[in-house]
Parts: sequence; structure tokens; C-alpha cells
Amino acid sequence: MRKFNLALLLMLLLSLALVACGGGGDEPEADGGGETSSVGDAANGERLFNESIIGAASAPGCITCHSLEPGVVIVGPSHSDIGTRAETAVPGMSAEDYLRQSIVEPNAHITEGYTEGVMYQNFGEELTNSQINDLVAFLMTLK
Ligand code: HEC
Repeated sequence: MRKFNLALLLMLLLSLALVACGGGGDEPEADGGGETSSVGDAANGERLFNESIIGAASAPGCITCHSLEPGVVIVGPSHSDIGTRAETAVPGMSAEDYLRQSIVEPNAHITEGYTEGVMYQNFGEELTNSQINDLVAFLMTLK
């Protein structure tokens, strides 16, 4: 019973903290953070994900390192269920935020069992904001 009340209190405090933060007004957003700008086009994201070369500097594409087959590791983890894994990957972080950060700042959170610095590091500069949004929208469909 005590434990239950504590959990409730914690949740209340957390939601208060979230309200106080007012939707992340201090988050850096390349395009000014307009409401609709972060909703990507999943179909375009799928097309981008499957390209063997991507971005302004012709970097290796996502599919060259991430399989969409369950359990298949090429270089990085399989993304067959990344939409589900993203939901709980970092406590308190939304799935979308986790996916976006994993693309633009790959070393922020290293997936268990993998090594820092292996994922291509410059997607944040070489992909456009809308390409990143589309990729995130596609990854969210993988459940
Ligand atoms: C050179 C290989 C390589 C390429 C190319 C690559 N990744 Fe990764 N990626 C990795 C590795 C290795 C990890 C695991 C280590 C880590 O967390 O940084 C990873 C982790 C991730 C994660 C963290 C979530 C997880 O557990 O799988 C996401 C999301 C992700 N990559 C998305 C992408 C997207 C989208 C692209 C294409 C724009 C891409 N990656 C291209 C190697 C790569």
C-alpha cells in the first residue's frame, strides 16, 4: 500500500515537472519548432531508410547497418521492432524523441551490447530536418 502511494506521488511530481517545462521551449529545433514540423511522412521515411547511400555527403544508408528482419544484426541492432523498443529505451523520454536523438546524436544512448562510435555520426548535419522527421515516422511504425 505504501509503495503504491509513493508511486502515485512520484507520478504526480513528474507530471507537474512536465507541465512546468511547458513543452520543451528550450529544446533546440532546427526549424523553429513549429507544431506540425515534427510529423514526418512514414512512406518517405521507409524509402529513405532503404537507400544504400543517404544524405548530403553520401553516407552509408540505414539499411546497410540495420536489418528490418527480427534478430538479424548487420552492424547495428535489428529495427524490426524499434517502434516498440523506443517506447521504453530511455525512461521519461518519448519514443519519437529517443529515435530522433539516436539519429542526430548517436552516442547519447548506446544500445546495450553495442559500441559507441560505430553508428554513422553526422546524420544530424547531413540529413534535412524533414528527412529526419520522415525516418522517425517510419521507425515508429515498426512494432
Ligand atoms: C555504420 C553503421 C550504421 C549506419 C549507417 C546507421 N546506423 Fe543506426 N546504429 C548503428 C549501431 C552500431 C547502433 C547501436 C549503437 C548505438 O546505440 O549507437 C545504432 C543505433 C541506432 C538507433 C538506436 C536504437 C536501437 O536500439 O537500434 C537508431 C534509432 C538508429 N541507429 C537509426 C539509424 C538510422 C535511421 C540510420 C540511417 C539514417 C542509421 N541508424 C544508420 C549503426 C549504424
